Amino acid sequence: MSRNFSTLNVINHPLIKHKMAKLRDKATNTFEFRTRLNEIASLMVYEITRDLPTEKLEVQTPLESTYCEIVKKAITLVPILRAGLGMVEGILQLIPNARVGHIGLYRDEETLEPIEYYKKFPTDMPESRIIVIDPMLATGGSASAALDFIKKSGGRDISFVCLVAAPEGVKRLLQDHPDIPIYTAAFDRELNDTAYILPGLGDAGDRIYGTE
Ligand code: PRP
Ligand code: URA
Repeated sequence: MSRNFSTLNVINHPLIKHKMAKLRDKATNTFEFRTRLNEIASLMVYEITRDLPTEKLEVQTPLESTYCEIVKKAITLVPILRAGLGMVEGILQLIPNARVGHIGLYRDEETLEPIEYYKKFPTDMPESRIIVIDPMLATGGSASAALDFIKKSGGRDISFVCLVAAPEGVKRLLQDHPDIPIYTAAFDRELNDTAYILPGLGDAGDRIYGTE
């Protein structure tokens, strides 16, 4: 069952803000960019998994038997290639058993439409909590298309996680996918005339992989 709410969750935390300053700084090199990005992704996990269901488990302590709660629901991370990969390791540090599906999309520079070039999902994805990952939510075209593919593949319990969201992208997702909660570390001002986020941090994929 999909969770029936649509919200923008801006995760406010001093450590996230501090690391975000490094990501925005154009002088930050590729290695530090990747490192801080994964650190922020790890810090976001606490909030993005807050509503995961738990099940009771009887555990024998050294003194007596007690009931604990554990997460049994499978979790699938779906990074949108390529920039989404830059947050996966940080999330896996806290959810090491998560499966990872992939969806390859790039934004056509002229039309700004998302072009799909790869898709591979775990077979049990439909029953799992699915966390779709992309650092940048600009026009929202890529995220919306990815969510369409995932829903067509049977995904129901889905969240979208980004690092920087623009108002235009949030509006698009709330229109196209009102059932999907959005989590972001920053909610920026606007898009420029080539659909880059302002103030933003530039091209996330290029900064992660040094391809500028
Ligand atoms: C970037 C980013 C998103 C997309 C956001 O990817 O990682 O996927 O743009 O823009 P949108 O919200 O307007 O669709 P890009 O197309 O540059 O590909 P890359 O990850 O391979 O660099
Ligand atoms: N994609 C990026 O990588 N950065 C932006 O600002 C917009 C889209």
